[in-house]
Amino acid sequence: MSNIVSPSILSADFANLERDIKRVENAGAQWLHIDVMDGHFVPNITIGVPVVASIRKVTDLCLDVHLMIENPEKYIEPFVNAGADILTFHYEAVNDVSAIIKLIKSFNIKAGMSIKPKTSVDVVYPYMNDLDLVLVMTVEPGFGGQKFMNECAKKIPYIKDNSQKDLIIQVDGGINAETAGICTAFGANSLVAGNYIYKSDDITSAVKSLL
Ligand code: DX5
Ligand code: ZN
Repeated sequence: MSNIVSPSILSADFANLERDIKRVENAGAQWLHIDVMDGHFVPNITIGVPVVASIRKVTDLCLDVHLMIENPEKYIEPFVNAGADILTFHYEAVNDVSAIIKLIKSFNIKAGMSIKPKTSVDVVYPYMNDLDLVLVMTVEPGFGGQKFMNECAKKIPYIKDNSQKDLIIQVDGGINAETAGICTAFGANSLVAGNYIYKSDDITSAVKSLL
C-alpha cells in the first residue's frame, strides 16, 4: 500500500525552510503541507501568500495548502498565483461551499474541504463528487504537536464508503507511524505529519515509515 505523505512545514525551522523542504523531498515525500492561519478562524498566525510563492521557487513538490482562515474565497486566486497545487478550505469557514469549490477548480487545481473534530461527517456528503480531497482533522486546528483524537478517525470509513474511488482522504493532527496505521486501516490515503517528521532525529526514516 502506498500513501501520499505531506510533511507539515509548520514544524520545520522557518529560518532554514529550503533545507527542511529538501530533507523531506529527498526522503520520498510527495507533497508539502502548508498551514495558513489567520488568527481569526484559529488562534494562531502562520504563513501567507509570499511564503508560498518563495517555496514554489525551490521545490517541485505538490504544494498542499491548508487554509485555516475566514473568508477563504478572497484568497483563492492569490494562492493559485503563488503556486498552490491543492487548496483545502474549512467547511466551517464558508457560506457557499459549492461556489468556493467551483472557484478553486476554475484554476485547474485540486479542491479540498476540511472538517474540524466537532463537525459531523454528514456535511461532506453533498460535495463529495465535486471535491478532490477531504481533510479529516484529527486535532483542533491551530497548532502542531497535539494529541491524535481517535474518534475523529472514525469518520473516515463513512467518507470512503460514500465516495467515488479517486477521492483523496487526508488526515492531519497527531499523525505518527502508529496513528497513521489506524487512519489508513479506516481508508485514509494521505497523511499530514508535522512534529513526527520534523522533530525526529531521523527525518528520512520518519517520512519512509508513513509511505
Ligand atoms: C494543525 C495543522 C497541522 C499541524 C500538524 O492545525 O493543520 O497541519 O502542522 O502537526 P502535527 O503533525 O505535529 O500534529
Ligand atoms: Zn494542516
